[in-house]
Amino acid sequence: MRIDVLTLFPEMFQAVLGQSMLRLAQEKGLVSYHLWNIRDYTLDKHKKVDDRPYGGGPGMVMTPEPVFRAIEGVERDGSEPARKVLLTPQGERFTQSTAEALSRENRLMLVCGHYEGFDERIRQGFDFLEVSIGDYILSGGEVPAMVVIDAVVRLIPGVLGDQDSPEFESFKDGLLEYPQYTKPREFRGLKVPDVLVSGHHENIQQWREEQARERTRAKRPDLFKKAPGPKTVSQ
Ligand code: ADE
Repeated sequence: MRIDVLTLFPEMFQAVLGQSMLRLAQEKGLVSYHLWNIRDYTLDKHKKVDDRPYGGGPGMVMTPEPVFRAIEGVERDGSEPARKVLLTPQGERFTQSTAEALSRENRLMLVCGHYEGFDERIRQGFDFLEVSIGDYILSGGEVPAMVVIDAVVRLIPGVLGDQDSPEFESFKDGLLEYPQYTKPREFRGLKVPDVLVSGHHENIQQWREEQARERTRAKRPDLFKKAPGPKTVSQ
């Protein structure tokens, strides 16, 4: 997968893309990241990317020219059209199923705004998936874009080893993850449940399913209602 990021702050991405799983995915050749500065696409000598809103009001708005030129120029840099994603608090909520859908694309282009928002003609000019990572206002789309990249890249086949396959984790079946334990068997008086050290795989599986359901019911009743399976928890 090729991921293009259009932003006024490309340096913000370097640490996140250059470490851990996101870096490994690039090293394995499964993804390539391309960072572009929208300011490089301005035509005026002051490299201005924002202006005051028509009609008045607080804050500044991103002007259409550099954003249009950046999107069109970057699109031409690759050999195929990109699925374009606009990070905005007005977008549809980003969920695991959005991440799954995006992980099947060959090319993503993430467009990050800053200031009070985008000139509306930017939305009109392109077929964007508008995405919000939650009902709060961040200072720009950069952190949300990193969230999207992380959630998407780890789903690309081959990025994670078999052992940490995303198939078994939280949200996959609409439930939170069951409790996990590792060594030691007892820590400060707190013990690992016997079933996990019993070696009885069927019982372990059943215990984990019950725990996942019970946790989801207690912590996230909203998810529990939507999850497939019985709506009661066996004791
Ligand atoms: N830009 C500012 N806030 C945002 C949010 N919550 N999600 C996506 N993009 C944003």
